[in-house]
Amino acid sequence: MSIPVAVLISGRGSNMEALIKAANRPGYPARISLVISNKKEAKGLSIAQEYGIRTQIIAHEDYETREHFESALHNVLIENQIQLVCLAGFMRILGAEFVGKWAGKILNIHPSLLPALKGLNTHERAIQARMRRHGCTVHFVSAEMDEGPIIAQAAIPVHVDDTSDTLAKRVIESEHWLYPACLRSLACGDVQMPRKP
Ligand code: GAR
Repeated sequence: MSIPVAVLISGRGSNMEALIKAANRPGYPARISLVISNKKEAKGLSIAQEYGIRTQIIAHEDYETREHFESALHNVLIENQIQLVCLAGFMRILGAEFVGKWAGKILNIHPSLLPALKGLNTHERAIQARMRRHGCTVHFVSAEMDEGPIIAQAAIPVHVDDTSDTLAKRVIESEHWLYPACLRSLACGDVQMPRKP
């Protein structure tokens, strides 16, 4: 039995597509049952539909407060019997109450070797800081942005002639194999969120 997963997106959805493709392979322990976007115009929505996956828009701007938005999100996940959630370019910070309800069950992918370069524009910042290595991180989501326990990272070298575009292209390639590998490990019970000491 595969575990039902929701993927939350805000835009392009290339990590979502990588997760869908992986989950379609025989023996993968999770299935992508629902894609939710907080942006009506997210390109990833039509990609998900092409794969026959149900999509839902829960637009944060339709809710008066973050709590209302997150309560709607939580209810949709429960109604759809979702067990794991993957944030894939989901550009909203989730509050402590929501994250607490899904502790150990939500993953995020971030385009840097955390704890370096939290936040936005990581590729530009890696070049500006003359970092020699860059990459991506899959981690459990906690209430602090880009802070939760790390599951795995993929490191790539930064070349002297890299631009943020060339670097972004290589990082996203590594995201596309790392995220499905981490979801597999979580879904089959090989990793779990560490308890606080
Ligand atoms: C990805 O690079 C992902 O790591 C990043 O947004 C991009 C989404 O691309 N996420 C973050 O920066 C979250 N802090 P995608 O929509 O093609 O997957």
